[in-house]
Amino acid sequence: MENNKEKHQSEIGMIGLGVMGRNLLYNLADHGFQVAGYDNDLSKVNALIDESRQKKIQSASNIKDFLDLLRQPRAVIMLVPAGAPVDSVINDLISYMKPGDLIIDAGNSYFKDTDLRIRRLAENGIQFMGIGISGGEEGARQGASIMPGGNKESWDRVRPLFEAVAAKVNNIPCATWLGQGSAGHFVKMAHNGIEYAIMQLISESYDFMKRGLNISDDQLADIFKEWNNGELNSYLIEITGNIFRKTDEKTGKRVIDEILDVARQKGTGMWTSQSAMELQVPIPTIDAAVSMRDLSAFENQRETASKVFYMPVKQLKGDQKILIGQLHNALYCAMILSYAQGFALLTAASSSYSYRFDLEAIAGIWRGGCIIRAAMLENIKDAFCTRPDLPNLLLNHTLSKKVIENQEPLRQIVRLAADSGIPLTAFMSTLSYLDAYRSSWLPANLIQAQRDYFGAHTYERIDAKGTFHTEWIEKKNS
Ligand code: 6PG
Repeated sequence: MENNKEKHQSEIGMIGLGVMGRNLLYNLADHGFQVAGYDNDLSKVNALIDESRQKKIQSASNIKDFLDLLRQPRAVIMLVPAGAPVDSVINDLISYMKPGDLIIDAGNSYFKDTDLRIRRLAENGIQFMGIGISGGEEGARQGASIMPGGNKESWDRVRPLFEAVAAKVNNIPCATWLGQGSAGHFVKMAHNGIEYAIMQLISESYDFMKRGLNISDDQLADIFKEWNNGELNSYLIEITGNIFRKTDEKTGKRVIDEILDVARQKGTGMWTSQSAMELQVPIPTIDAAVSMRDLSAFENQRETASKVFYMPVKQLKGDQKILIGQLHNALYCAMILSYAQGFALLTAASSSYSYRFDLEAIAGIWRGGCIIRAAMLENIKDAFCTRPDLPNLLLNHTLSKKVIENQEPLRQIVRLAADSGIPLTAFMSTLSYLDAYRSSWLPANLIQAQRDYFGAHTYERIDAKGTFHTEWIEKKNS
């Protein structure tokens, strides 16, 4: 550990020494980079000093000394909570930074904030990049999926460092420049939206098995472990299996059964839904996942309503093994449909915000390090390799075939859940998305007619071009 002795030594600095920031620093240092860390919480600086005695890590206890440790032009990564803390760090930095310096926001910032910050800092000649990083603590330490956006030359400057700390798939780093401006933070937001959807689908699968089939935690652990060895192979399925196995030191029971049924969130899922609404892209599975986290927080109302609408979950009848097999296939189908929605959002953003995304590259860097890494991303990557402008993954032959093969189990699981009273909100929304997407006719003609009826909004016809209006009410002769 070198403490403030050598000036202008470090290639990059990290502001924010929470566990993610520290792990990313250690990862960079392990790859031979000289790095420096700073946090306005002195205890975190001290923790860094204690933990990294053998490493090439410098540190400082004030921002000016910290910036003096960095080679010029300086490059600083910040890993702080989204929102006001990001602006507060920028405000601290701005008076010491010079034209040509680079600030990288590696947190989960809202993409529109990133665009504003890029413009604001450009006025001072300072480059600003939004880089999404996924993989949690372990990813930051062992290899993450890295989603950079912003100025391409700035990326080229820091690329070797980020490629070094990225997860590797077939020896290729999961880190690729994704586009100008807030491209990286938009992609990270969509990643988190998909993350919400898959987490909700897995939780509903748990509910189906726990309350519908009386499956024990041990059996659940075995089932998810087995699922992870097949088509469902993914990080989220893997950790779910491990969760059911974990015993609580305090009570000796399973930890999962001691956890309150209220899901917290920091907002990226909600931003995904809001952005999709703005871009007019349907992503109902992600919307359902956000709503169900929101609904879980109404614990007192749920408690009251459970008495008002008293109806115990009906046990599911039938061969348990067959039902679990159908659930597996339904989940597989719903996961494909969740990725399809997330990528459809990226497609719309690509043109609306001029990001010009390479969707094959995005699928590529999501194969390793990130929370939504999954075997099926190979098929998704291939789909965009075959047709880069594919408007929806459901129009790819391989993936549509998989959906067709598994749609009946999805329908069956939804049917059973509706009958037994198990809330499979995300599964139901996913099935409706599929049914609506494959409908060559939808009842939107009636909506057109209603709008024209009450507001003379006009409508389009199937037999002629243009807009039309009907006098829906016979005028009474006066
Ligand atoms: C990741 C995660 C990470 C974080 C989520 C949690 O990709 O590593 O997505 O960014 O764990 O932001 O989000 P919520 O608090 O909204 O669930």
